[in-house]
Amino acid sequence: TIEERIDLLLPLMTLEEKVGQMNQYNGFWDVTGPAPKGGTAELKYEHLRKGWVGSMLTVRGVKEVRAVQKIAVEETRLGIPLIIGFDVIHGYKTLSPIPLAEAASWDLEAIKKSAAIAADEASASGINWTFGPNVDVANDARWGRVMEGAGEDPYLGSKIATARVKGFQGETIADLAKVNTIAACAKHFAAYGYVEAGLEYNIVDISNSKLYNSVLPPFEATVQAGVRTFMNSFNTLNGVPATGNAFLQRDILKGKWKFDGFVISDYASIKEMIAHGYAKDEADATAKAVNAGSDMDMESYLYVAKLTGLVKEGKVKEALVDDAVRRILRVKFELGLFDDPYRYCDEKREKATVGNKANNDGVLDMAKKSIVLLKNDKNLLPLKKTGQKIALIGALANDKNSPLGSWRIAANDNTAVSVLEGMQQYKDNQLTFEKGVDLLSQKATFLTETVFNTTDKSSFDAAKTAAKNADVVVLVLGEYGFQSGEARSRTDLNLPGLQQELLEEIYKVNPNVVLVLNNGRPLSIPWAAEHVPAIVEAWQLGTQTGNAVAQVLYGDYNPSGKLPMSFPRNVGQVPIYYNKYSTGRPIDSDKNVFWSHYMDVEKTPQFPFGFGLSYTKFEYKNLKVNKTAFAKGEKVEVTVEVTNSGNYDGKEVVQLYIHDEYASIVRPIKELKGFELVNLKKGETKTVTFTLTDKELGFYDNEGNYLVEEGTFKIMVGGSSDKGLESDFEIKG
Ligand code: IFM
Repeated sequence: TIEERIDLLLPLMTLEEKVGQMNQYNGFWDVTGPAPKGGTAELKYEHLRKGWVGSMLTVRGVKEVRAVQKIAVEETRLGIPLIIGFDVIHGYKTLSPIPLAEAASWDLEAIKKSAAIAADEASASGINWTFGPNVDVANDARWGRVMEGAGEDPYLGSKIATARVKGFQGETIADLAKVNTIAACAKHFAAYGYVEAGLEYNIVDISNSKLYNSVLPPFEATVQAGVRTFMNSFNTLNGVPATGNAFLQRDILKGKWKFDGFVISDYASIKEMIAHGYAKDEADATAKAVNAGSDMDMESYLYVAKLTGLVKEGKVKEALVDDAVRRILRVKFELGLFDDPYRYCDEKREKATVGNKANNDGVLDMAKKSIVLLKNDKNLLPLKKTGQKIALIGALANDKNSPLGSWRIAANDNTAVSVLEGMQQYKDNQLTFEKGVDLLSQKATFLTETVFNTTDKSSFDAAKTAAKNADVVVLVLGEYGFQSGEARSRTDLNLPGLQQELLEEIYKVNPNVVLVLNNGRPLSIPWAAEHVPAIVEAWQLGTQTGNAVAQVLYGDYNPSGKLPMSFPRNVGQVPIYYNKYSTGRPIDSDKNVFWSHYMDVEKTPQFPFGFGLSYTKFEYKNLKVNKTAFAKGEKVEVTVEVTNSGNYDGKEVVQLYIHDEYASIVRPIKELKGFELVNLKKGETKTVTFTLTDKELGFYDNEGNYLVEEGTFKIMVGGSSDKGLESDFEIKG
């Protein structure tokens, strides 16, 4: 067995070699070239040859991976293979939509398949392990990394987290041995999604109730799905850095949840505990991280420098090092790396797999499913296929880079199908394109600040002329692909640059506007929501963006996406989320000013969680609960009839929300506890059944105990979090 093989290997390892397994380096040098001279590259290379490196990140491609693996396997004393990690966040080279967009599909099978495509391509390029999925529940759109997660809801987030883990790894851990799967990594443990004020790398200060009920459930779901690794996070949680947090890593993850994979730090986060003011120096940071359960050091250089000495001095127990190494070796064995370290290094497979047609078809399917129709007054959509004069306006419409989104390190620049290219395929219409305004004042990259300060309106006039001469204007506006993601926090959620001005100018000359949004986070677009007749949320949809958008605009695909995050009316409402708590004064029942509200804007979101339209209409009726009162532990069965009463076949995400009316800890006014994606032909009716068990009806108290309490529950079933049919039932003691 794997454990027996580890039992044989561990005693052969020196302390330095064990510590080496806990060390991961970033591979930014030409690993296929001659030995690097000078700087950190030379140091890393030397450490590799000594067997002091257990893993590399960023090295990719069969040739490159083979080259570093060869050093580990052929030049070190024990020949232990490296595990090669990489940020395969939404595809490898063939990109699927950004994760937040995929979440808008609520289609778990499609999401799983998308992760499987990514795993197929990455593994064919030598990669064994992705740093994903990001399962950070987040409700502050100012934070740039909301694009990497599944939005604001722990229930939806848990389902998607499970789908992604299984997509990457396979159904069971045994599937990891297949050549087309990779190990997944649940990140960032924990609570990174709650960085204060949406400011990147900021502190997190949240209640136990929030931690247990919102933050932790998606992580626990990944453990249940068999995720093999976890990554901790840059933030402090209530004063203790996650990287040095024994409560999170030892008590909860490895203790309560019995996780038997390994934990990697985030990039240099072990060293950053000094800057946080939690560790005195490098040795202290090392000891704190290992003692707290961080098994592998990503690029802090600290374990390799300090850990051996700390063990010898008795400051870290060797048993903890052994435990960490056992976990790391376990995953390497499961991946089959000991059986054949080059099994992911097959050039033929790489050539046949990366970017192939099947993968492109797969990501196109995912992209269409991720689009959310936010408004369609005047039935402007779908566009007619013949005889329409269409003005396509917006620099983003003719951009082949931005739609790739952030976190796409392996993909080549400018490889997306642009919206212009997608629409040009519908040849029987007259299509003109004008950029209207440039978006960026300099080239944007993953590593550099994305700068928007264009003041040049000289292209406005050409765009207005095109709009005036058109029947319909399709305006593609939003954020550039590198305006969300890590270190891309914003204090304003409006359309950046001059885009709002352009939109209003165009609308003046032709109000038949279809606004197609490209963005990596919820935006606040109050003016557009009021004036523009049709709005399509198209996020950043990856390689096949233009084809997906065109097929939706032309009605070859009927949109069915629903928002996974609330869209605020303005940034001052943030954080805004549907599963909020009641206050003591939720409504103005006394007809005076002293109730919970804003003076200047409604307190509801512009577009709520779960919201999304279709070209057809869905009607809900006959919501039934099978009994009025239940004993604890009994199953509650809820049924509802849904009819497609419009003119197109379509899909609807039927959503069930509960409200536990009173409890020992106040519960949110709504909590998603079930959903089903239902296909309905026009005129068709289906009955949808939900079963609620203790798993859905309980909650965590402030000590982390799971409770199901007696009392009354309201339920709501509908196509969005803001309205639906209502009923109730009681749980008796
Ligand atoms: O995986 C990422 C993480 O999400 C942020 N810091 C860097 C890691 C590796 O690239």
